[in-house]
Amino acid sequence: MKKQVWIQDVLEAIEGKLYKVAERSPGIIPYTTVDGIFDDTSKSSICWWTNGFFGGMMWQMYHYTGKELYRERAISVEEKLDENLIIPDGMDHDSGFKWLPTAVAHYKIDGSWQSFRRGILAAENLAGRFNLAGNFIRAWNDSNDGSRAGTAIIDCMMNLPLLYWASEVTKDPRFSQIAIRHADMAMKYFIRENGSAIHIGEFDPATGEFLRSVGGQGYADGSSWTRGQAWALYGFVLSALHTGEKKYLETAKRVADNFILQASKRPDMGVSIDFDQPLDCKREDSSAAAIAACGLLELGKFDEKYSEAALKLLEFLVENRLSLDENTDYLLSNCADSFWSNREQMTLIYADYFLVEALLRLMDKDLPIFKSKKEMTIE
Ligand code: GLY
Repeated sequence: MKKQVWIQDVLEAIEGKLYKVAERSPGIIPYTTVDGIFDDTSKSSICWWTNGFFGGMMWQMYHYTGKELYRERAISVEEKLDENLIIPDGMDHDSGFKWLPTAVAHYKIDGSWQSFRRGILAAENLAGRFNLAGNFIRAWNDSNDGSRAGTAIIDCMMNLPLLYWASEVTKDPRFSQIAIRHADMAMKYFIRENGSAIHIGEFDPATGEFLRSVGGQGYADGSSWTRGQAWALYGFVLSALHTGEKKYLETAKRVADNFILQASKRPDMGVSIDFDQPLDCKREDSSAAAIAACGLLELGKFDEKYSEAALKLLEFLVENRLSLDENTDYLLSNCADSFWSNREQMTLIYADYFLVEALLRLMDKDLPIFKSKKEMTIE
């Protein structure tokens, strides 16, 4: 009960701030902040992978409060993303990140037919990226030289819910068949023996042979980039909830156990950018903590130790990294886009989104954007 009062207070303070942020942010799609104020990718990078999260945060706030302003801001993002839908080389595996928090969220709220069509178009494009030989969804595009035709990344586990949703609403199993094949592939090639995840996997796109892992946004090849661990953790839980498959739940638990163990080794700070970064490097990634918390809260329904771990991550974020200053636009500081990025610590819109989703979930008030409204029983 005490826990609930604490979270309710924080959510109310966040909502008070976000309303003011929404009022002064018409028509923008933010990625990060400059001097505390949102940038706008709607004109410069309409295909950027994070472009769904501001809309998603607005839908979560609309669902929580019923305030019309949030709905207007969310719809504005969704409509702007139509430009992306007709740019083929701007359509990559991140369609889940872009259209689940926008069009699909809108459809889940009020059954909008136009939003349904946007979601299906995005899901069809995502399904079309499936490589039949290697059973993976191709991550990125190239300039038609095939250089990225064999690349898959762990982050894609979070895009699979778009396919599960498409099968649910069209009653056509093709979409989830692809999602399941990709999840099985990721379980085999992306999750190491100790429960950590690789970031990038390279396949021979013609034969489907797995060739190697490659270092990505983490410290090095062979290291454990924390946001990648969080995508794996939450992604496998979501596949378990969408399919009822116990093997995904068990995989999510292995990833979670490793995440909790590695995070506990640095009690002096928040979640690092990479669990294998040098000990004298104190740079953090609050986004990894917020994403992991969302997945841990779902795992907590099966074993309370995971909810406790989620609460610990969230308490740290709220006490040390949350800005309630109403003159700034961001919620969480100390994020990192990549270990080797030139920027020091930064803000990231998806860190804010997943913080809000996690806090609402603690109160049973979240809109199921990545989850399904009807969860499967996992035997
Ligand atoms: N999906 C890219 C990232 O997590 O930075």
